[in-house]
Amino acid sequence: MHVPSYRIGPDTERLTQRAFEVEDAEAFFTLNSNPAVMRYTGEPLVRSLHAAREAIASYPDFDTVGYGRWACVLKQTRSVIGFCGLKYLADLDTVDVGYRFLPQYWGLGLATEACAASLQFGFKTLQLEQITALVLPENHASIRVLEKVGMRPDGEFMYDGARTLRFVVNSSILG
Ligand SMILES: CC(C)(COP(=O)(O)OP(=O)(O)OC[C@H]1O[C@@H](n2cnc3c(N)ncnc32)[C@H](O)[C@@H]1OP(=O)(O)O)[C@@H](O)C(=O)NCCC(=O)NCCS
Repeated sequence: MHVPSYRIGPDTERLTQRAFEVEDAEAFFTLNSNPAVMRYTGEPLVRSLHAAREAIASYPDFDTVGYGRWACVLKQTRSVIGFCGLKYLADLDTVDVGYRFLPQYWGLGLATEACAASLQFGFKTLQLEQITALVLPENHASIRVLEKVGMRPDGEFMYDGARTLRFVVNSSILG
């Protein structure tokens, strides 16, 4: 079945969003090899520029489900400073919102801005009924982002071997 491919994500006040290109490998590597960034993600550090290139080149989501995590480009400098977006999790049969930013940009409201835009995109463009977020209980900054965009806690479970909190929001939030 052909699905539309949303390689361009929603614009926000300070960010443009688009699929990662192989040319972004250095920025992707800098982000995903930083232990402070990766600490609560449950993912291994990206080990090399080569691995970053491979990860970008083989990222299937835009071709398979049509949407995915977008590179977040700061309008002011045109540099890639993180990612945000939606991901279909087949094992849970749910659409998950996720984000990750370079530490020098933390605390500026950028994750909240990007996450809110992803939710709007999911509900308005993709016509989703519900969006989920999975977060480790220790990740207080991320939990705060989820609260600020209107997501509510919906229990906890073991995921990838770790106690994980589930947050949800329904399309009714659009009013
Ligand atoms: C989580 C993350 C994306 C937040 O990005 P950000 O752009 O700093 O987020 P925002 O500025 O929009 O909001 C952060 C909020 O958390 C709060 N916060 C930050 N650190 C906190 C802490 N240790 N405890 C409690 N609240 C905290 C901030 O004060 C802010 O809330 P406020 O606006 O009410 O003051 C960023 O820390 C990050 O990239 N972390 C590493 C990757 C990651 O963990 N991703 C999420 C996986 S679920």
